[in-house]
Amino acid sequence: MIVRWSVPVLAVAALAGAASAQDPCIDCHAAQELDEVVQVHLRQFRDSAHASAGVSCADCHGGNPSTFVELRAHKGVLNSAHRDSPTNHWNLPRTCGRCHDAEYGALRQSAHYALLERQVHAAPTCTTCHGSVAAQSLGVEGGLQARCSHCHGPDADHEEVGIPGEAGQEALARGGRNLARQRVLGRQRADVSRAVLRLRDPSKRHEAADALFAINASWDEAIEAGHAFHWSDWENALDAMASAIAELRSALAPGGDR
Ligand code: HEC
Ligand code: HEC
Ligand code: HEC
Ligand code: HEC
Ligand code: HEC
Repeated sequence: MIVRWSVPVLAVAALAGAASAQDPCIDCHAAQELDEVVQVHLRQFRDSAHASAGVSCADCHGGNPSTFVELRAHKGVLNSAHRDSPTNHWNLPRTCGRCHDAEYGALRQSAHYALLERQVHAAPTCTTCHGSVAAQSLGVEGGLQARCSHCHGPDADHEEVGIPGEAGQEALARGGRNLARQRVLGRQRADVSRAVLRLRDPSKRHEAADALFAINASWDEAIEAGHAFHWSDWENALDAMASAIAELRSALAPGGDR
């Protein structure tokens, strides 16, 4: 491994950002001339919800984040191509699942998890939809087609997959609709949450908080069903969320049931 210090120290501050200035993993990597793919990875990490929440490189990669001595820092760090690396395709559900229990538990119920256990590389894992640092989320436009058609597309080897192409395409279309709906409902959920916080009357606020609780419970159900690839359960949870939001909205509306 060649350490190159040719990038001036200024780049450290630029890449690492103020909040993370004391993480040797971030600081040292920011000073390296890394290949383009890794640079993109580091930029995406910097802008991600993980970085803002204080999740570190070591949380996903292992290693010792309290030293600038490279050999010690990398103790236990393995390239993700290595079968035992925590960032290996097959190990990601467990690695991410340490913090995202519900999604991990749900994915484990799916046929895809069994494929991952058999080390079928194309099988979807957490980063298939979220990107390597979860800086992005699967888009509706083409996202599912691009990532899932290998097995569920019209040209896939359906005998091996066990789902005929037409059913696979229908599953992807339903998934796309659910995903789009979850996005819209997510924005509405944020809006009503803010509206509830603005309520002055404590008893109204209390009532509204109960309604919000129901909305959040449906959100969690939707997330769980989606990650288990249980499309009907996902649709039911989205329906429940939509009507709970509609009810709360009309209660909050001027002249509504306040
Ligand atoms: C003193 C500098 C330094 C520190 C500290 C450091 N790294 Fe690295 N790291 C490097 C260099 C240099 C490379 C090699 C880059 C290359 O090959 O292009 C590297 C490579 C890696 C790789 C790729 C390994 C591979 O085999 O491909 C990972 C993953 C990684 N580091 C994670 C971490 C984590 C996590 C930490 C903190 C616990 C950390 N590093 C701390 C300098 C550092
Ligand atoms: C949320 C988990 C997560 C975090 C946080 C994270 N990485 Fe990664 N990293 C991955 C995954 C997964 C890969 C595998 C490649 C891919 O899927 O794109 C990877 C790949 C890499 C690689 C390329 C070598 C390899 O092993 O594939 C390097 C180098 C690296 N990460 C360094 C870092 C550094 C430095 C940080 C902190 C600034 C960091 N990563 C933060 C998940 C993470
Ligand atoms: C050390 C704990 C930890 C690990 C490991 C971890 N995460 Fe996270 N993740 C968090 C925290 C904390 C947040 C921010 C929660 C919040 O903002 O409510 C988060 C947020 C997210 C989000 C929401 C992002 C957004 O923009 O709102 C997704 C998606 C996500 N993580 C996926 C992953 C994936 C995929 C992996 C593995 C590659 C992973 N996480 C590994 C702790 C972790
Ligand atoms: C088939 C694609 C897909 C896979 C595979 C996937 N996710 Fe997700 N994930 C989603 C979608 C869609 C959402 C809904 C939010 C959005 O669209 O951003 C989501 C949301 C999340 C959230 C935010 C939950 C919230 O309450 O806001 C976390 C955390 C998360 N996923 C973690 C994971 C982890 C960990 C794994 C692997 C065990 C994983 N995801 C696998 C598609 C996926
Ligand atoms: C490596 C092949 C492979 C890939 C890639 C793949 N799947 Fe699957 N999928 C399968 C197999 C195998 C089954 C189980 C078929 C059966 O049980 O008959 C399945 C089942 C499903 C089901 C039905 C689940 C159920 O419980 O009935 C849905 C929905 C699904 N996949 C969606 C997706 C989505 C969305 C993606 C992309 C994120 C995806 N698949 C990527 C192989 C794959």
